[in-house]
Amino acid sequence: MVAADRRAVLVTGGAGYVGSHAAKALRQAGYHIVIYDNLSAGHRAAALGAPVIQGDVGDTDAVRRAIRESGAASVMHFAAWLSVADSVRDPIGYYRNNVAGTLATLEAMAAEGCRHFVFSSSCAVYGEPVETPISETHPTAPINAYGQTKLAIEHALPHFERAYGMTSIRLRYFNAAGADPAGELGEDHSPEIHVIPRAFQAASGGPPLDVFGEDYPTPDGTCLRDYIHVTDLADAHVKALARLEQGGASATYNIGTERPSSVKDVIAAVERVTGRPVMRRSAPRRPGDPAALYASAQRIRQDLGWTPARPDLDTIVRDAWQWHSTHPHGFGDRP
Ligand SMILES: NC(=O)c1ccc[n+]([C@@H]2O[C@H](COP(=O)([O-])OP(=O)(O)OC[C@H]3O[C@@H](n4cnc5c(N)ncnc54)[C@H](O)[C@@H]3O)[C@@H](O)[C@H]2O)c1
Repeated sequence: MVAADRRAVLVTGGAGYVGSHAAKALRQAGYHIVIYDNLSAGHRAAALGAPVIQGDVGDTDAVRRAIRESGAASVMHFAAWLSVADSVRDPIGYYRNNVAGTLATLEAMAAEGCRHFVFSSSCAVYGEPVETPISETHPTAPINAYGQTKLAIEHALPHFERAYGMTSIRLRYFNAAGADPAGELGEDHSPEIHVIPRAFQAASGGPPLDVFGEDYPTPDGTCLRDYIHVTDLADAHVKALARLEQGGASATYNIGTERPSSVKDVIAAVERVTGRPVMRRSAPRRPGDPAALYASAQRIRQDLGWTPARPDLDTIVRDAWQWHSTHPHGFGDRP
């Protein structure tokens, strides 16, 4: 068994979109990382040469081996499924992957004496907002299985801290967007469910972009969301881990820009950045799509000194377009 290396981190889901950006940020901050991913949605190339162990987070013994081999003292846990619509169709699959899979990982951590856990949670834990901006004290009432799976883990973590001394930071992301400004990494989901890459597809001869609802009580009638640059998310993860390593208390933080942008704002930004029209069509509202979801991120600003470096929507879209225009087939490993 390798002696636990304080600077070694096991990054589950590190071959995926947010995890790969966080893994790069961790390496830049001097950590040794090992990626643990079943590659169901991730890409080996997104590891940028870091070691990858192919395995499932639901396999406690395999996660234990990965912790021992890497000498990790901490786990950053991105591995999960994240489609709201799929979670409504397949709650068993979502509970198995996101809840049972995470519990198996936590069990492995407890058995190996791993001390710190940084968890990818979501603004989906809030459900239909009763007020905006949404702060961490907003009631949690998820309206779909995806949000419930995230909240279930958030609720379990304090018990694990009491029993096993494992501290954790739960990061509730709003809408992850953008791409590595150096152009090495980007978003490659199949099928693509996020509006910015969908708008790129629509601007590049792909299917038109569906605008789900134009009669919301918002300034232009379309939904308002909070798009947070993926490298700002990555930076928040590094700061969160450092805080836990310094003996900081467990906590829950929103991560967003605090700036609401509408679907029409996104379309306009994509048209400005790409210089191409975004073909679109009106579609009915999707059930469970709140009119406005945007964060108050005051708590993480105050506690961790985090602040988004790239909060501007055009910057987010420009970085994303740099990746998409130079990688039209993503990482190129899917048929
Ligand atoms: N992208 C967003 O806007 C967003 C918003 C809020 C929360 N999140 C959360 O952030 C995390 C990462 O999201 P993402 O956009 O990078 O998704 P992603 O699909 O790109 O990455 C998830 C990674 O986890 C892996 N994975 C999934 N199930 C696994 C399992 N059972 N065992 C091992 N590996 C597994 C996948 O292969 C993939 O590489 C997820 O937990 C998601 O719920 C994402």
